[in-house]
Amino acid sequence: TKIALITGGYTGEAEVSFKSSAFVYSQLDHNKYDIYQITITKDAWFYVSDSGIKHAINKEDFTLVLDDSIVQFELAFIMVHGSPGEDGRLQSYFDLVGIPYTSCDALTSALTMNKGYTKAILADLNDLFLAKSVLLFENQRAQAVELVEDKLSLPYFVKPNAGGSSIGMTKVKVADELKVAIDKAFDAENTGSQVIVEEFVNGREFSEGIYRNVDGELVVLPATEVKTTREFFDFEAKYIPGLTEEITPADLDVNQQLRIGKILKDIYVRLNCKGMVRIDFFLENDTDKFYFIEINTIPGQTPQSFIPQQVRAAGLTEQEFYGNLIEVALK
Ligand code: DAL
Ligand code: MG
Repeated sequence: TKIALITGGYTGEAEVSFKSSAFVYSQLDHNKYDIYQITITKDAWFYVSDSGIKHAINKEDFTLVLDDSIVQFELAFIMVHGSPGEDGRLQSYFDLVGIPYTSCDALTSALTMNKGYTKAILADLNDLFLAKSVLLFENQRAQAVELVEDKLSLPYFVKPNAGGSSIGMTKVKVADELKVAIDKAFDAENTGSQVIVEEFVNGREFSEGIYRNVDGELVVLPATEVKTTREFFDFEAKYIPGLTEEITPADLDVNQQLRIGKILKDIYVRLNCKGMVRIDFFLENDTDKFYFIEINTIPGQTPQSFIPQQVRAAGLTEQEFYGNLIEVALK
């Protein structure tokens, strides 16, 4: 099976995509799959052959000319975080050229890239709570501080509404810092034109993957608890080893595990997800309520990322897990 493993992207997360795709490439069964890493940047879509020569992709039909023959791909394994791989654009493109892919479809990808809109769809889900938030539009920049202060109390998390890996994100603890934080989030590269401000939830932070196996069953992976020494789980905490303690499987009691497992399945079904997704949440101290933070439809697969840890904790190999994603997408 000829597989295009897609990497790169148009946002600050491109460097994460390169690490994720390199890891996936190293883990896939190369006897079973013929894998080509395709890099997507704003300027070019290309494949680099073993001899180091760049070959441009024909965007008309996503083919590649190599040694005078045409390579036609049977599947796209999308490993681009952020736009255009996680927001539905590549998914729409592959729909048009008729190549199946491993991720959620275009609609779900576009919707879930928008944190504010996703919360609206999940608002009435059983047992799931949402931090109070304000969604800001570009034309509201001038009144943004007022709009936030009317509705929320400190501290806040300020984020580009369609961002990832905490790029452009600030935890705001004093009122004076809000304006700068909002501007920074609006100005993050290629992450849309909206900003979301959320009220801080005092609790423990977790992240947990879920996917569908070849038998059509939803499988919840063991959760990871995130304990960072930094102010919050920012870009450095995410990718510099040692700054964050990540406990997999997380120390949750059986009831909490069952409750969150059920919530994850409900979210997956409600959003019509496909392939692997990873959901981030808080467990509020005292109340024991689960708060949804966000869903990642192209979750990180760097050696530091959660899903590989969770796969191993589940007693699976990465080769089995990624192979399963391919087989489900080819069905
Ligand atoms: N957005 C990063 C890659 C993640 O969710 O893992
Ligand atoms: Mg994310």
